[in-house]
Amino acid sequence: MSAQAGAGRVLVTGANGMLGHDLVPALRAAGWVVTGLGRGDLDVTDAWQCVAAVDGHDLVVNAAAYTAVDAAETDEAAAFAVNAVGAANVARACSRAGARLVHVSTDYVFDGTATEPYAVDHPVAPRSAYGRTKAAGEWAVRALCPESWVVRTAWLYGAGGPNFVSTMLRLAGERETVSVVDDQEGQPTWTVDLADLVVRLVAGDTAYGIHHGTASGQTTWFGLARAVFELSGLDPERVLPTTSDAFPRPAPRPAWSVLSHESLERVGIAPLRDWHEGIASFRA
Ligand SMILES: NC(=O)c1ccc[n+]([C@@H]2O[C@H](COP(=O)([O-])OP(=O)(O)OC[C@H]3O[C@@H](n4cnc5c(N)ncnc54)[C@H](OP(=O)(O)O)[C@@H]3O)[C@@H](O)[C@H]2O)c1
Repeated sequence: MSAQAGAGRVLVTGANGMLGHDLVPALRAAGWVVTGLGRGDLDVTDAWQCVAAVDGHDLVVNAAAYTAVDAAETDEAAAFAVNAVGAANVARACSRAGARLVHVSTDYVFDGTATEPYAVDHPVAPRSAYGRTKAAGEWAVRALCPESWVVRTAWLYGAGGPNFVSTMLRLAGERETVSVVDDQEGQPTWTVDLADLVVRLVAGDTAYGIHHGTASGQTTWFGLARAVFELSGLDPERVLPTTSDAFPRPAPRPAWSVLSHESLERVGIAPLRDWHEGIASFRA
């Protein structure tokens, strides 16, 4: 009982998260009848709750995740329960109900050592506990629900959550200068732009598989911080470059999080716009 664009019922899991916050209105605007459930109403680690919640839906977007990257290093089991077992529970429930599935994943499934954009079929080699659990979730989704898309994203920011852009603006008000790492490359991605990609992906007969839902272009956290300052009328020279060594974290950060959009182009879906445009719209 697959549905075409706007012709069906969609369940969004993790609906109170940063991405979920923008997915629900985007799907609704596209004509879907949306059920948005936060963790209090649907705990994806409970297989039977998933079966009951998915029942009657044509499509599920799984935006529920354990996203505390550093905490996962010391509690991988908790992250695995949500990101791997939870994803499997949702996928199995979708297969059972005949619902299609969009599962959201991450650049952290890669080792971060590449020097050119990662293709969707590049071997996964996560270096963090979070990355391992998300890689396991991808595998479970593809194995248990063939009618699924895995959308890997990265460097998300949005109105519905704490994020780098908001943090920079807060620090700008507290300090004269802000030091930001300049040795990690990525694609800052607005949750609104990613939600729009999900809407477009499910609108037609797009072949199932893995795609990369990140903004076009690339920059470093330092480059992003300078752009945020500029857009906010602040002096970008107040942002100073530094290295990751200056900010040791429990989980290693990928030096290279630039993802290729070739798979989207191959199926006729336009990749997300350039990250500059996303930031400008977010700040507007
Ligand atoms: N943020 C990024 O930069 C980034 C980068 C790459 C990929 N992603 C992926 O993008 C997706 C959305 O991330 P986000 O930034 O929106 O994260 P988020 O703001 O942390 O949202 C995740 C949501 O999932 C919920 N959740 C946690 N455990 C759950 C459970 N057992 N059952 C149901 N819901 C549960 C959380 O609820 P609580 O708040 O109550 O825990 C939260 O509302 C995730 O798959 C994430 O891995 C994010």
